[in-house]
Amino acid sequence: MKRENLLIGSKVIFLPQCSSTNDLAKESAQMGELHGTIYRCNSQTAGRGKDGKTWHSIPNKGIYFSVILRPEKNLPLCWLPYISGISVCESVRELFNLFPAIKWPNDVYLEDKKFCGILIESSFGREGIDYAIVGIGINVNHEREDFPEDLREKATSIKIVAGKEIDNDLLFEKIIEKLNFWYEKLALNQISIIHKTLNSLSLIPIGSNIEILDGKRIIKGEFRGFNVQGALLLKERRMIHKIYSGEMISFNV
Ligand code: BTN
Repeated sequence: MKRENLLIGSKVIFLPQCSSTNDLAKESAQMGELHGTIYRCNSQTAGRGKDGKTWHSIPNKGIYFSVILRPEKNLPLCWLPYISGISVCESVRELFNLFPAIKWPNDVYLEDKKFCGILIESSFGREGIDYAIVGIGINVNHEREDFPEDLREKATSIKIVAGKEIDNDLLFEKIIEKLNFWYEKLALNQISIIHKTLNSLSLIPIGSNIEILDGKRIIKGEFRGFNVQGALLLKERRMIHKIYSGEMISFNV
């Protein structure tokens, strides 16, 4: 069977609590679990973020899930974080009439604060990619006091912005629908629509001054959008850098 014939979310394994849905999904992928299977938990005791950070995953407030993907070998993987962020943005916009934006590479913001993080972990064999785990954590019904003090100025939730309680399951289902839509575009190599949507959902306006931490190097310059290979374009004096990974450590919106 071709991998893409299976839909994302055709099998959802729900647990009230787990250590980390990414860890569960990874173990299960290593045991041969199929493309599209999702692990979802109501709370995580060891939720992981990027760069070894903790993802605070308190019970009954957020959405925490991980998708097992088994992409075809030629699928351009650099678009995976973007289609995940796009799926979250469009779901929140369509359901709640809010306007989230993507902060490169894969954070999703509402009113200049982060409410969603995406952690992608991939495993490669001799013939290329074996599986990718797309882990998505969303602050949905959190109050300000639910965040640790050091995060209160940087983090938000959909409830805080919408001013009302949000139906987690409804949002989860919508995101799965969107992930299927965008993953299909990617599998069919329809990059130009993904590229256009990414540029339209960028938190950072073109022309803004930004700083990117790329390994140990900090590059400062002017944000010039994304190219069709998925690279962030950064103009530093006369040079345009194409940046595929890193962290945006300073920006003005
Ligand atoms: C980040 O912004 O640092 C990424 C956060 C990713 C959090 C999600 S929650 C579901 C999945 N399981 C984890 O342990 N992490 C991801």
